[in-house]
Amino acid sequence: MEIANSKPPGELLNWDDIQKMKYSWNVAQEVLRLAPPLQGAFREAINDFMFNGFSIPKGWKLYWSANSTHRNPECFPEPEKFDPSRFEGNGPAPYTFVPFGGGPRMCPGKEYARLEILVFMHNLVTRFKWEKVLPQETIVVNPMPIPAKGLPVRLYPHKKSN
Ligand code: HEM
Repeated sequence: MEIANSKPPGELLNWDDIQKMKYSWNVAQEVLRLAPPLQGAFREAINDFMFNGFSIPKGWKLYWSANSTHRNPECFPEPEKFDPSRFEGNGPAPYTFVPFGGGPRMCPGKEYARLEILVFMHNLVTRFKWEKVLPQETIVVNPMPIPAKGLPVRLYPHKKSN
């Protein structure tokens, strides 16, 4: 809202505005933590190694799981709690928050996705109030997490929108 209020009516968002949307991005990241669109992906072991007492031979396919890492209380205290402030300051330790993967094969669309999500959130909250038609709607994972009934909402335009 701070950014919306700082702009003359009708002026579009620019890159600087996007960089300032820290709280909105913390909220979006907390959603990506609890419902990562991709549950994980595969890697191939390029050497023999030990992990947690398991010996992993060279050539094995490994699956890394965003979902279980994001709900590990050692990485995220009270993991079931929705708390965007986890991302304040330095945020989570490296390789614990991995909705976009990590390392050389990390998602190359990450910044574009951030831009799209923030522009969408900005336009939604500055133009509308809304309520869910189905307050108890669940999320199904098949294989991406989506609202079971398509998230029907009632939109109420603000009287004056920018
Ligand atoms: C919220 C949105 C998105 C999420 C959560 C997401 C997540 C991911 C994840 C987890 C991977 C695997 C990374 C790894 O193995 O370390 C990946 C790979 C990839 N993503 Fe995304 N992605 C998103 C949006 C996008 C967009 C918008 C694009 C393109 C415009 C994109 C293009 C790609 C490509 C090309 C790869 C394969 C990279 C490679 O294997 O080198 N993604 N993404």
